[in-house]
Amino acid sequence: MSFSRMALTVPAFAVMLMLAFAALGLTAPAAQAQSSEQTSASSQGPQGGAVPGESLGTTGSADQWRAIRDGLQGSVSIPDKKSAILIQSGGENWRSIRNGPLMTYGSWLLLGTIILLALFYLLRGRIRLEKGPSGIRIERFGALERSVHWMTAVSFILLALTGINVLWGRHVLLPVVGPEAFSVLTIGGKYVHNFVAFPFMLGVLLMFVLWVGQNIPNRHDLVWFAKGGGMFSKHSHPPARKFNGGQKIIFWAVALGGLSLSLSGLALMFPFEFGLWAKTFAFLNIFGAGLPEAVPGVTEMQLSNLWHSILGLVMIAVILAHIYIGTLGMEGAFAAMGSGYVDENWAREHHNIWVEEMQSSSDKAPAQGQAQPAE
Ligand code: HEM
Repeated sequence: MSFSRMALTVPAFAVMLMLAFAALGLTAPAAQAQSSEQTSASSQGPQGGAVPGESLGTTGSADQWRAIRDGLQGSVSIPDKKSAILIQSGGENWRSIRNGPLMTYGSWLLLGTIILLALFYLLRGRIRLEKGPSGIRIERFGALERSVHWMTAVSFILLALTGINVLWGRHVLLPVVGPEAFSVLTIGGKYVHNFVAFPFMLGVLLMFVLWVGQNIPNRHDLVWFAKGGGMFSKHSHPPARKFNGGQKIIFWAVALGGLSLSLSGLALMFPFEFGLWAKTFAFLNIFGAGLPEAVPGVTEMQLSNLWHSILGLVMIAVILAHIYIGTLGMEGAFAAMGSGYVDENWAREHHNIWVEEMQSSSDKAPAQGQAQPAE
């Protein structure tokens, strides 16, 4: 390179360098300002529903998310159309009801029933045979009736215990027995619950067929209720046929409650297969009218679960009272379902019309209600 060319190039390079520095000097504060603006904007978050920075998603995307949160259904090509719902908020409601009021009021219901029965026992004592045993036996329930009763009773008790474990087990049993034993008990309990449901359903159906005729309400029941079933005074024995007013309540609670428990239980056992209980709701238009079309099956499952639990707990409370009166609460009652025979004095004190009707029907001998000497 000649000297004259070099003399031209060096100043030109220097000028370029200076221009470059000047440009940098001008742009750096601007870039700095922009980045700090972005940081402060993003730390402030969306304002008034608008996403900062003019990026995609202004108020419109808040609306979209709100719709998704409300269970908006998109479309999927797989058969399970439920998966087209990103968020089914009902699940959170279901969980908070189950873990909140259901568990709280449920425990009060069961504990309250036990406390009331204990108080009743302390204040009233056992309902005794007023005239003592006569020594004459009367057949009250035949072998078929007792078999059906005990099949239903044993199944119900197993269902109740395993159901209670599903609801409260992790709070009550887990800390006592530890995770390994709790896991075995709960998995086993789930199978017991699922399989024992079938003898229970059969038992409820057979009980209904066997006893519905004797459980139609009649005028004697009104007198029975008016006198509190004679339970609160030592010498009161309101008239009754084979089943008194209180027993009819138990019978109908078992028949209708059993049916409803069965329907909701089947809906849970075969998820989304047949929303029997959901359809019943829809038919009755209780919850059916409010069911969003967008969530076929999921809402129904949640309702079935809550209803199954509430009804199960109410049934347990009713049956606790029934077990009390059939064992500790009343002298001579258990024999009716144990051996099938009761003492004639017991029958006359608690079911006088039944004894008279059975003994006056001479064409029925030998039949239930006929006196026989004690063995
Ligand atoms: C240890 C449990 C149970 C005992 C000791 C028991 C005892 C009895 C007794 C003694 C009777 C006959 C009462 C009479 O002679 O009039 C009876 C009847 C009956 N039981 Fe039970 N029972 C038990 C569990 C159950 C269960 C779990 C159910 C149903 C889920 C049930 C449903 C019935 C029904 C519907 C009747 C006829 C109506 C009545 O007498 O109240 N029982 N039970």
